Amino acid sequence: MQKIGDSYFPTKEFKDGAWLNDDSIYEKAKKDPIKFWEDLAKELFWFKSWKKGFLHKPPYFQWFLDGKINITSDIFEKNNLDFKILKNKTALIWEAEPPEEKSRTFTYQELFKEVCQFANALKKLGVKKGDRVGIYLPVIPEVVISMLACARIGAVHSVVFSAFSPQALKVRLQDTAAKVLITADGYYRRGQVINLKQNADEGIKETEVKKTIVVRRAKNEVFWDEKKDAWYEDLIKDEKDFCEAEVMDAEDAFFILYTSGSTGKPKGCLHVCGGYTVQSYWTGKWIFDFHSDDIFWCTSDPGWITGHTYAIYSPLLNGITSLLFEGAPDFPTPDRWAQIVEKHKVSIFYTAPTAIRMFEKYGAEILSKYKFENLRLLGSVGEPIDEAAWLWYFREVGREKCPIVDTWWQTETGGILITSLPGIGPFKPAFTGLPFPGVKVDILDEKGKPCPKDVQGNLVILPPFSPGMFRGIYKNPEKYLETYWSQYGKEIYFTSDGALKDGNDLIRIIGRVDDVIKVAGHRVSTGELEAAINGHNEISECAVIGVPDEIKGEVPVAFVSYNDKKGVAEEVKKEVIDQIKKEIGPIALPKEVYLVEDLPKTRSGKIMRRILKRLFTGEELGDLSTLSNPESVEKIKNIIRK
Ligand code: WTA
Repeated sequence: MQKIGDSYFPTKEFKDGAWLNDDSIYEKAKKDPIKFWEDLAKELFWFKSWKKGFLHKPPYFQWFLDGKINITSDIFEKNNLDFKILKNKTALIWEAEPPEEKSRTFTYQELFKEVCQFANALKKLGVKKGDRVGIYLPVIPEVVISMLACARIGAVHSVVFSAFSPQALKVRLQDTAAKVLITADGYYRRGQVINLKQNADEGIKETEVKKTIVVRRAKNEVFWDEKKDAWYEDLIKDEKDFCEAEVMDAEDAFFILYTSGSTGKPKGCLHVCGGYTVQSYWTGKWIFDFHSDDIFWCTSDPGWITGHTYAIYSPLLNGITSLLFEGAPDFPTPDRWAQIVEKHKVSIFYTAPTAIRMFEKYGAEILSKYKFENLRLLGSVGEPIDEAAWLWYFREVGREKCPIVDTWWQTETGGILITSLPGIGPFKPAFTGLPFPGVKVDILDEKGKPCPKDVQGNLVILPPFSPGMFRGIYKNPEKYLETYWSQYGKEIYFTSDGALKDGNDLIRIIGRVDDVIKVAGHRVSTGELEAAINGHNEISECAVIGVPDEIKGEVPVAFVSYNDKKGVAEEVKKEVIDQIKKEIGPIALPKEVYLVEDLPKTRSGKIMRRILKRLFTGEELGDLSTLSNPESVEKIKNIIRK
């Protein structure tokens, strides 16, 4: 890599081999973004072409109107010629958590066969186009097969991250009203078998789920209800290995994925068939520079949007090999991830800054025995990557030869919208880059005026947005309007991220400006955590804040208003943690729980979280005169100090 000023650029060799190596693409796209996307869309397989590229009815918009498509036909049948070439190519490599367990691989043909068999089985169970299907699976090949089988028949999948608690599963299933849930007996996590079926059984109570399909993975003992439960393997056994693709309208619902917003209740982001397919294909091809022999490892669980788009749909649409790993990257040894990169000859590695900081903490010495010869490109996603972590990744993993694409996007955007392009650059530590060709963004101040360079403002996305952006919040149009289209009106999408531009228009993401926090890259909201804690019988009031953490980026800290008359503080703290485990799962446990007499409030009764945050980080507190109970501040300070 070449260094010019504070940025890096691709080598001539990389440039020459890249799909894109000329920055004139940005100008070309800018002239007519709708036409630009339409031209890209033409390279996919459509049953019927669209009549209109883009339609804007603020705050809603549509792409490729009246076009007919099915993403699985694009993956497996594009045109028969492609599929003939692809047939024997490895689509998936799956690595189990136990290192001694054999990896599983699927060629495109094998994958297609099993997708069709399962699609036929789902149909037999009465699942039809438009029906919602819940998927609560660990990282095993069947999660991919299940999603694709739904896509094949036009059922709307809603994947729930397997580490979410039964309660979190329930809330999501209730919202989608799914009648079928696909789960597994169990899975491995850090050497333990997690009984997922038990969680699923608990989670489907008080929902409309009538049928639970269970994949046998960990062979742990599970409770069985003959009427309700069915083994996956029994269902597909006698099914035909072809299933006709359901012809989907470009704007038909494709999937719903829940994400955290400002309130306690998660929001179901609704994605559609046409635009998502087009955007997934092209962003992968250009940002990760997918070429036919690439082996791509996106470390995200398919339960998050990153896993949906870049562990599954994008690499498969591009006909390359995607690697899935069941376990934690540092188990059983800290260099497990490096072993996997070498073993499977990974050429593109895409992970989150939290993982990078964790690898860094283990020390570069353990990496000296790895050559990483096949790696040619690295990616980062999910949280801001600081300069130190960027440089470590660049040197110790990329060996100063791999470009790093720092990719900004959200569950809502469906795919990457801001990044540097690998064959063009520049790669500037801590800066994500430029909007993807055909995407228009800006950084605005509170009044809606564009911020000058180096000044932080709110990141917004401007029309025509992007084809793969979500089309709404499932069953909640008010929330959609209020969350994204009220700050600057119905024609400007508010991302809830703070950002700034440098003199070359490169964008730096500062972080969320709402109360969403990214804990180890996982998106949770402080409101959601507070709602969970308030579920405790004896707790009526609490406040959760996000504080910086060396490895995880941010972690929650909870302040709970509790009058400890009985001297049971330690038990209550433990119960607070249990409450979060129960309502959400183990992914966002607080670093500290403080029991306090009183929380600082304004005269109108609003809890001042800002003051709590400053108390914790030791920053200047500022004006306390607006508080109704300023004396609470000193008391909390003493508790934190203790
Ligand atoms: C943050 C994950 C800095 C951001 C794909 C966004 C990032 C939220 C980056 C969405 C990045 C994502 N640099 N911050 N490269 N990528 N974020 O929905 O705050 O889980 O709003 O989607 O992650 O999180 P989500």
